[in-house]
Amino acid sequence: MTTIKDKVVIITGAGSGIGEETAHILAADGAIVVAVDINNAETVADEIKEKGYEAFGATLDVTNAEQWEDIKKRTLEKYGRIDALANIAGISTDTYITDLSEQDFEQMLNVNLKGPFLGMKTVLPEFIAQKSGKIVNITSLAAHIGITQLPSYSASKGGLIALSRQVAVEYAEHNIQVNCVSPGVIETPILANNPAGVTDMHLANTPANRLGKPAEIAYAIRFLISNDSDFITGQTLKVDGGWGSH
Ligand SMILES: NC(=O)c1ccc[n+]([C@@H]2O[C@H](COP(=O)([O-])OP(=O)(O)OC[C@H]3O[C@@H](n4cnc5c(N)ncnc54)[C@H](O)[C@@H]3O)[C@@H](O)[C@H]2O)c1
Repeated sequence: MTTIKDKVVIITGAGSGIGEETAHILAADGAIVVAVDINNAETVADEIKEKGYEAFGATLDVTNAEQWEDIKKRTLEKYGRIDALANIAGISTDTYITDLSEQDFEQMLNVNLKGPFLGMKTVLPEFIAQKSGKIVNITSLAAHIGITQLPSYSASKGGLIALSRQVAVEYAEHNIQVNCVSPGVIETPILANNPAGVTDMHLANTPANRLGKPAEIAYAIRFLISNDSDFITGQTLKVDGGWGSH
């Protein structure tokens, strides 16, 4: 039976959208949630604790290696171990490649690709020592198909799939599983960054004919950090209402 009870799970991007919903759902299933974000993480952790579940919230900029080390230290001091990492934090503001500044391209890669790199680099020594660990990286359908006006976003998420697969193969012998979840179009605040009409266009390409819910991504993450998925590694699960299967 799927269980995540008492697993200590670091969740980035826990202040909003998919990360926030994942923090609530995993905590309600018995996980000990370390909620981190540049915004709102402590509030989300407080809400979880008010419901009677275990959580700890802290500010973390995923692009900052020192802050990652600090979160690891505080998590180990408080809970004694780390069992899983869900890299959910991300940004999506993008434009045509001809209009995209070098600085904005670098910022996209910093948050969406370097962030998960730093997170994995931070927790992997613990996972190797304890001979177990789960990593779930949130990618995007934009890594699988060409979508208009998303050059830097697509590159960051495609890079994350390649990086995850490499880490998965490297550390499989240590009983560490690394997988990705690629959402289609999910109803969260990030959609406000889409240029006019783009969300409607995505919806028109989604056979399920609706937006996904943040909880529907959280359930996939829950499976991939549970021990029911111990022989699954290096995979990318599309949760997209059929869009990527067109
Ligand atoms: N919503 C969708 O349709 C969709 C589709 C595909 C992929 N995704 C991915 O899902 C993930 C979550 O997005 P969401 O839809 O919940 O959006 P969201 O904007 O609601 O949440 C993103 C969170 O990431 C945080 N964040 C941004 N930069 C950060 C940084 N440097 N350090 C720490 N936290 C940072 C934000 O503060 C925010 O809380 C993202 O990686 C996004 O690319 C979303």
